[in-house]
Amino acid sequence: MADQPLALVTGASRGIGAATARALAPTHRLLLGGRDEQALAGLARELPDARPWPVDLTDPAALASAAAECAELHVLVHSAGVARLGRVEDSPAESWRHNLEVNVVAVAELTRLLLPALRAAHGHVVLINSGQGLAAREGWGPYAASKFAVRAFADALRAEEEPHGVRVTSVYPGRTDTEMQQAVVAGEGGEYTPEKYLRPESVAAAVHAAVSASPDAHLTEVTIRPRPNR
Ligand SMILES: NC(=O)c1ccc[n+]([C@@H]2O[C@H](COP(=O)([O-])OP(=O)(O)OC[C@H]3O[C@@H](n4cnc5c(N)ncnc54)[C@H](OP(=O)(O)O)[C@@H]3O)[C@@H](O)[C@H]2O)c1
Repeated sequence: MADQPLALVTGASRGIGAATARALAPTHRLLLGGRDEQALAGLARELPDARPWPVDLTDPAALASAAAECAELHVLVHSAGVARLGRVEDSPAESWRHNLEVNVVAVAELTRLLLPALRAAHGHVVLINSGQGLAAREGWGPYAASKFAVRAFADALRAEEEPHGVRVTSVYPGRTDTEMQQAVVAGEGGEYTPEKYLRPESVAAAVHAAVSASPDAHLTEVTIRPRPNR
């Protein structure tokens, strides 16, 4: 419906981003970000008012042209991300660059391009960070460094944009049952036990709670851990 607020969710082709799009769909018009056009088209067909927004976030020209179509944006959820893990001794520059390019530079650039649209709507930026953005473990350096960086980005953005009426929320999920986690566990040589992880829908519910907070409230940071023995 044309009078509903507009939300752009990156990484909506699967995982936490797809769950977030589903959670916002009853109350928002949606732009579904990602590169997998088939997955985006499939999700768009399921939802009442959603359309694919297929962009490679590391392509600055494509990003600028796609962002130019938004004159007013109420919600921007950054869920797209990559996780190249490794011990420092095994991590070449390319691994650091790739994590930083997708998880930080693309997030900063897309936000910058959309700031006029977000200010126009007194909008909300939600960043899907990670427990690794709060405390780095051995073997996670390149990914954790990118998540620490995007936490700093969120804090600076909040300080700068609060006077313009824009809210900024960092969400820090623990291990969540998605393709990213499957790849992480395979890399660790562990057993994949989805029942021990968060469901993507649980992270999406936290995003929904932040976005639907009453106008006097600003949920700045939300940490979510899997709950053992549930
Ligand atoms: N899963 C976990 O345990 C966990 C825990 C804490 C935090 N997180 C964070 O949560 C977010 C979502 O993770 P997830 O588990 O849902 O991952 P996922 O299932 O691997 O999905 C990643 C998403 O990012 C998109 N993406 C990656 N590179 C892109 C690029 N260059 N351009 C455009 N889109 C790109 C992918 O879309 P396409 O392939 O279609 O491009 C996909 O939709 C990430 O920021 C991750 O760091 C995950």
